[in-house]
Amino acid sequence: MHPSQIEAALEAGYAAGKAASGGKNADYIPYLASVPSDLFGLVITTAGGQTWARGDVDHAFAIESISKVFSLALALETHGIDQVRTKIGASATGMPFNSVMALELHDGRPLSPLVNAGAIATTSLAPGATAEEQWSSILAMQSAFAGHAIALGDEVYASEQATNFHNRAIAWLLYDRGYCYCDPMQAVDVYTRQCSTLVTCRDLAAMGATLAAGGIHPETGKRVIAREHVSPILAEMMMEGLYEASGEWAFNVGLPGKSGVGGGLLAIAPGKLAIAAFAPPLDEAGNSVAGQAAIAAVARQLGLSVF
Ligand code: DON
Repeated sequence: MHPSQIEAALEAGYAAGKAASGGKNADYIPYLASVPSDLFGLVITTAGGQTWARGDVDHAFAIESISKVFSLALALETHGIDQVRTKIGASATGMPFNSVMALELHDGRPLSPLVNAGAIATTSLAPGATAEEQWSSILAMQSAFAGHAIALGDEVYASEQATNFHNRAIAWLLYDRGYCYCDPMQAVDVYTRQCSTLVTCRDLAAMGATLAAGGIHPETGKRVIAREHVSPILAEMMMEGLYEASGEWAFNVGLPGKSGVGGGLLAIAPGKLAIAAFAPPLDEAGNSVAGQAAIAAVARQLGLSVF
């Protein structure tokens, strides 16, 4: 791909994102409702480490569910592929990200590390006996993917911690059926922290480019995860990364993706590049409206669908 093609695709994506309308900020976490709705950034970073950026790409926002990708990476690194499949699962739920019904329908088995239940179970597998030990290994993984230190957003964390009762209920249900692998309130606390780190669109693109490059950070040159762990992560992102809208996303865009209710959206073209978007207004499934439009336009223009 020639750099001028990537630059033109970024412009097309930026225009598509700017033209998108509708959606609204998440408001079940009070902090997220207060983020300006008109922020919009788009970044493309290649597997070789070249970056193109447009818009509000240095604005720090809450990573939210995109963190699930990196905690899954940690679980794969520390427990291996088979253990992750057995202890959590690797299928789509077809239901909203915080669904209790999805758990009930499958005997308490969370199915996917990318929905809240599976992510809490994944976090509970993080190495360490205490919340602090587990948190430091999760933060280290996010930081390794970004290529520099990532930090907790204290205000986001306080806001989530004051309102995360639904996730606490999910953790107890997991624990009841044997799918939470540490104290359930500890697991929710660490999960809430992992969702409350602050990243920019540039950070997100670098994190995604590390997956696009087979687990090696394109700028630091460091191996972050084993090559064999990249494929299961990307498969899971394709199956469940945009929750109940994942099928439509695969149909329209054809790239592994992951959304967060902070407005972030990340897509990976394996071996090639990562596209990161940030725009707070969300659709009904909790996916950034402008982010989806922007990434779809980039993928179409560059012919990136993996299918
Ligand atoms: O657990 C939650 O509900 C939030 N901390 C994260 C949810 C989320 O980002 C769903 N994604 N689109």
